[in-house]
Amino acid sequence: TTPPIEFDLKPSASPLSDAERDAVLAAPGFGRHFTDHMVTLRWTKGRGWHDGQLTPYAPFQLDPANKTLHYGQSIFEGLKAYRQPDGSIGVFRPDANARRFQDSARRMAMPELPVETFVEAIDVLLAQDGAWVPPHGGEESLYLRPFLFATEDGLGINEPAGSYLFVLIASPAGAYFPRGVKPVSVWLSKEYVRAAPGGTGAAKFAGNYAASFLAQAEAVDHGCDQVVWLDAVERRWVEEMGGMNLYFVRGSGDDATIVTPELTGTLLAGITRDSLLTIAADLGYATGEIRISIEDWERECAEGSLTETFACGTAAVITPVGSVKSSGAAWTIGDGEPGPVTLRLREALLAVQQGKAADPHGWMHRV
Ligand code: COI
Repeated sequence: TTPPIEFDLKPSASPLSDAERDAVLAAPGFGRHFTDHMVTLRWTKGRGWHDGQLTPYAPFQLDPANKTLHYGQSIFEGLKAYRQPDGSIGVFRPDANARRFQDSARRMAMPELPVETFVEAIDVLLAQDGAWVPPHGGEESLYLRPFLFATEDGLGINEPAGSYLFVLIASPAGAYFPRGVKPVSVWLSKEYVRAAPGGTGAAKFAGNYAASFLAQAEAVDHGCDQVVWLDAVERRWVEEMGGMNLYFVRGSGDDATIVTPELTGTLLAGITRDSLLTIAADLGYATGEIRISIEDWERECAEGSLTETFACGTAAVITPVGSVKSSGAAWTIGDGEPGPVTLRLREALLAVQQGKAADPHGWMHRV
């Protein structure tokens, strides 16, 4: 019932030449370079969403009493645009990210952006900055980063802020494994937890990531690449890895079963996680959402019944896990190398995103 938002277009010429941009796209890394423009949209209590704009990418000015700086009302999303074989641009499941953005907003007492407006903002930015989507053929993409934060100034804490700014920026992202898929080692965090029942773990809330850095540093101190989070209550149920969901493969070949921790309210409902449940079923695998303890993970690896583990997320797509370490144990998964089911799922997902395979579920949004 809200009227559609019209974005006011105020573009300017890119500060980069085409050759300079192409040089960035040849080796973009992750989150280091940004496209020429951004989309912004304001929300004010009593007025709703207004003042949609496309403007040159530029810094903000913030009052020192800005409420986000003090009380952290800040949520974000991450999704990718891929160059398709015909030269057009395909965005992977923006409607799913839009719905999760609404879920995150609700949890943080922030306004919910209509799904159509979220997708429209993406269309507006890509219509202007589409040349920043890397060429078809590699695993490079344009990472889209929508976010929302409080813009009210003041230190009162009795109610949520009365004004917010939605922003969409975009950053070219390189192939996560330019020299072939490499497994990571993980550290089981028993001292720190990511999320507790009733908390913010299911929201893509900035503070969840702030709270993770110390545990990630602990993982590195123990010689591991990434932290794995356990449940807050018993500290034995496996939840997530760093900022990614986890998957386990039981058995092998066409008879493999592919399972992932169920969404208990403390996990982030990953779009890649959700997509892989569907893709695995399409490929004929049995799938399940389960609870898995660290004891079972270790024992099933020793028995050889749990053959592969991988993490999944938008940024890194699928990352194999090769070995596990905790204060009391250490074990290898399979032979420590990327497993065949992991690689098959990775290829199948990337094929849909890159437009190399059919899209039976209508996941690709064409711009
Ligand atoms: C993902 O896309 O896997 C993430 O959540 C990582 C992002 C926070 C950089």
